[in-house]
Amino acid sequence: MKYIEMAFHKVCLLMFLVEIVLCEKVFKSVPVTVKAYENDTVLLPCYTDNTEGDIRVRWYKNGSLLADSRDPNLLLPLRARMFANFSLQLEGLLPPDTADYTCEVIRPEPWGPIRQTHSIQVQYPPTVRTVPDDGFLEVKKGEYVDIGCETTGSPIPIVTWKKNGEQMALLEHRSRIRFRAEHRLLAGVYECTASNGVGDAVTAAITVVIQDAPVVSTERSFVHTAVGLRAALAARLEFAIPAARTAWYRDGRPVRTDDRIVQMVRDNVHQLIFRSVRRPDLGNYTFRAENKLGMADVAFKLTGVPNVASFKVEPALNKATSTSFTLIWEVDSYSTIIEYHLWLRPYYGRLSTPEPDAFTTEPPANLWSKIVVPGDSTDGPIHSATYTVRGLTPSTVYEAIVTSRNWFGWSKPSAVLHFATEPGVGRTLPSTSEYTDITPILEEIVPQEAYNITQAHVFERLNELSNGARETPFSAAIFVVLTFIILVE
Ligand SMILES: *[C@@H]1O[C@H](CO)[C@@H](O)[C@H](O)[C@H]1NC(C)=O
Ligand SMILES: *[C@@H]1O[C@H](CO)[C@@H](O)[C@H](O)[C@H]1NC(C)=O
Ligand SMILES: *[C@@H]1O[C@H](CO)[C@@H](O)[C@H](O)[C@H]1NC(C)=O
Ligand SMILES: *[C@@H]1O[C@H](CO)[C@@H](O)[C@H](O)[C@H]1NC(C)=O
Ligand SMILES: *[C@@H]1O[C@H](CO)[C@@H](O)[C@H](O)[C@H]1NC(C)=O
Repeated sequence: MKYIEMAFHKVCLLMFLVEIVLCEKVFKSVPVTVKAYENDTVLLPCYTDNTEGDIRVRWYKNGSLLADSRDPNLLLPLRARMFANFSLQLEGLLPPDTADYTCEVIRPEPWGPIRQTHSIQVQYPPTVRTVPDDGFLEVKKGEYVDIGCETTGSPIPIVTWKKNGEQMALLEHRSRIRFRAEHRLLAGVYECTASNGVGDAVTAAITVVIQDAPVVSTERSFVHTAVGLRAALAARLEFAIPAARTAWYRDGRPVRTDDRIVQMVRDNVHQLIFRSVRRPDLGNYTFRAENKLGMADVAFKLTGVPNVASFKVEPALNKATSTSFTLIWEVDSYSTIIEYHLWLRPYYGRLSTPEPDAFTTEPPANLWSKIVVPGDSTDGPIHSATYTVRGLTPSTVYEAIVTSRNWFGWSKPSAVLHFATEPGVGRTLPSTSEYTDITPILEEIVPQEAYNITQAHVFERLNELSNGARETPFSAAIFVVLTFIILVE
């Protein structure tokens, strides 16, 4: 008896070893991973070389029994069937059919069951759902923006982002974006695209609105007019979320409007219109926009003084000799120009001298000299003037500024004009002298310091000019946009 038991054990051990070695060989089929699309039909094999004795085959889906060759009562799911050769067929594949399918072969005693596992991955196109659901998020400046695109699809879709139509250079394909609303320019339409190579990519968008203090600007803060003319001050409300209250002020008090002084708003441009300017209308005005997050002002000056004059550069007319140069300028003024002041000085800046004097380290005295040029008697509005400056030094670069005066007062100074005199007869400068190559250039730079008491009033006016226009640092803001995007899964 004991002997038989031992023998039986030996047989079992032998069978066990044989199975380990031969298990794979028992199956004639090999395990497969099937990547299929929706609606496809897949046939999973379960072929063994076990021809003798009858075998029983069971199929499992992710470990739960799906089919049994000996149990006709176990109904297969609608789209599945097992053939006589034990292959399992699945048709009309759907995403939930993604699973491991195990074929179990149960053989007559004493052989134990053997198994082989296949898997099916049903690939399907991506879908996307935005966070928040309605695709709209409004936050206050400084708060966090948390948006995302939740996707489905197999394989797992890759998400890419665009902001206002421009690709965002994100380091990873995050489905979630989180950043601090540091600047109103971070607002916009954030668009995500999910693609996985199956079917078409899908796109969804989230509109991010950032509340901030209003922003106002103007193209013209110095408005030239004359008594009896129509004049308009125009301020652009660049940004107002939430909506802003707006008002016009004169010397700190609200402007009283009537049928002569009217307000108009069109396309975010707010205008204060004087149908016919009277003397007391001239002065300083402010446009103010205010919401719960702050306010913005833009200052205007309604004035009768001439506009800034501009030099004309026309080589044919700017007749240059070694000691003279003809300057031409134009100015807008609704009233007669009484006089011009032409300010002139040699220019020692950025140009190198042909023979630098090693012994002078101090810059030479470089004072503006004033030339009074009489005005014309025309009413304008465009006044032209020509003046030939004489007694200049040959081969010298000069700079010039002009101011104009009418009945209302002095204009602000023009931009600086650079011009050069011709080489002198007695001079031995080569004809290719750096100086003669200089054509008159208009520069938008204005002198910073007041050079002399006599010139002081000119520069006061300059300061006025720079106070008038306020700039929005757009390029800096765009940089901020890129810098402050922090990604969080
Ligand atoms: C699958 O078949 C159904 C019905 O025939 C059809 O409506 C559906 O569009 C098909 N899906 C794909 C991904 O081809
Ligand atoms: C198993 O049966 C199915 C259905 O008859 C057939 O399509 C398939 O080719 C068969 N496989 C083998 C190996 O005979
Ligand atoms: C089966 O298991 C796989 C892997 O664990 C899983 O991805 C799949 O969703 C499961 N399928 C079902 C129908 O439970
Ligand atoms: C207008 O504003 C300027 C400064 O911007 C000031 O110097 C000037 O006195 C003001 N004029 C009036 C009439 O208040
Ligand atoms: C101002 O100009 C006068 C003459 O043009 C000169 O004598 C004086 O030194 C200058 N003052 C300064 C501070 O440069």
